[in-house]
Amino acid sequence: MRGVTTSGSADLVILANRLPVDRVRSADGTLGWRRSPGGLVSALEPIMRNNDGAWIGWPGVPDEDVEPFVDEGLSLVPVPMSAQEVEEFYEGFSNGTLWPLYHDVVAKPEFHREWWDSYVAVNERFAEKAAEIAAEGATVWVQDYQMQLVPRMLRERRPDLRIGFYLHIPFPPTELFQQLPWRRQILEGLLGADIVGFQLNGAAQNFVRLVRQRVGHKTHRDTVYLPDGRTVQARAFPISIDTRGFEELARSESVTQRAAQIREALGNPKTVLLGIDRLDYTKGIYPRLRAYSELVAEGRFSVDDAVFVQVATPSRERVEQYRVLRDDIDRLVGRINGDLGRIGQPAISYMHSSFPRHEMAALYRAADIMVVTPYRDGMNLVAKEYVACRYDNDGALVLSEFAGAAEELRQAWRVNPYDINGMKAAILEAAHADDREVTRRMKAMRKTIMEHDVAGWAAAFLGALSEVQGTHSKTLRPSRRS
Ligand code: F6P
Repeated sequence: MRGVTTSGSADLVILANRLPVDRVRSADGTLGWRRSPGGLVSALEPIMRNNDGAWIGWPGVPDEDVEPFVDEGLSLVPVPMSAQEVEEFYEGFSNGTLWPLYHDVVAKPEFHREWWDSYVAVNERFAEKAAEIAAEGATVWVQDYQMQLVPRMLRERRPDLRIGFYLHIPFPPTELFQQLPWRRQILEGLLGADIVGFQLNGAAQNFVRLVRQRVGHKTHRDTVYLPDGRTVQARAFPISIDTRGFEELARSESVTQRAAQIREALGNPKTVLLGIDRLDYTKGIYPRLRAYSELVAEGRFSVDDAVFVQVATPSRERVEQYRVLRDDIDRLVGRINGDLGRIGQPAISYMHSSFPRHEMAALYRAADIMVVTPYRDGMNLVAKEYVACRYDNDGALVLSEFAGAAEELRQAWRVNPYDINGMKAAILEAAHADDREVTRRMKAMRKTIMEHDVAGWAAAFLGALSEVQGTHSKTLRPSRRS
């Protein structure tokens, strides 16, 4: 097994806001770590093992100063955050300013100078840590909107490194981004990378246009030319999931049994509709439930033979807008079930909780129609997970055209979440589609996600990064995958 990461020892560094583990207390009271599920870590694990890789991130709890450690063969390097930084950097600037701004201002972003100061300070700390542990000529891959200043801070400290940045969420149109008082600093922060990766081409184009207009650098197509002769590429690398892993899980005996149990517990209705989301105002949970409730009220669905299962995973619960959303959804579900439900037959079966992968796969298997209706979403992996689990080519996907996934999952029933009547029509069409139509659509979507999984995504990004000229960096050893 690999040892704990020390100064200058890592040839590949992944830097993200969070470590891929959660702090857990076991029954006997001892504190330990549990690997958080996620495609990103499983996709990167093989190549990290092969390249003395290390993952830098926050352990997820304030004021926890932990030494680097190894978890299931993965080298983890914690970066601490004070309670005040959690409030100002994480809940504040990351999730009260950038998150709504980058999601089409679905909620109003707040601009506070103390939040910005905290964002700078935390980004400095992460950059400092990466500069300390990266080996000469190493590759550092910085993840997501919480860390946009790190590429430049790191390049100033370590010009020998190859630096990649990937944004998991949308990058907004220029008109919205320009609201940000610190717009120039963010753009310059990102330009410290050799490659800035986005989910979609449109986002990469937004970035290049802003760099030209706001920073004044010359650009041509996806390339930015810096005055010092360096170039930066802005390109799309749509993220995906561990498609085969999900399918394998969905095929397992225990998931098959659990899916049957779920349908049984719901009263074996003819139609199970499903929504699974983080409880976030970008996800369009409210209009989706309204659309469904109107269909029930109009007699298009009956609580005797249909149910909408909505899972909302608790998220960012100390941020005001998330609290308000929770109350709004609680009220809406209560009202819908109060008006339309009968004893033992609610119109909506609502759960405010998070479930392990196994239960998610069983829910995907149990659902006839998956309804994914974000107002704006970088990608939306839930849509891809549903498709991965439908190995019999059955099941219908209703998908917002404002989710990044809609660019690839073109055979879904597409909806505009702002158009309630349009959503109602699409849900009905999906419910009444004949088997051949459902199969045709699902087959095509499955082919897409089989060909583009998360391992392919990581290989494409790191492959592009390894081709960057002009650094003295080492080339990564490819992972030996079976
Ligand atoms: O989609 C962006 C993202 O930051 C994901 O990487 C993450 O899983 C999710 O949002 C939840 O974020 P948080 O770390 O704030 O709980």
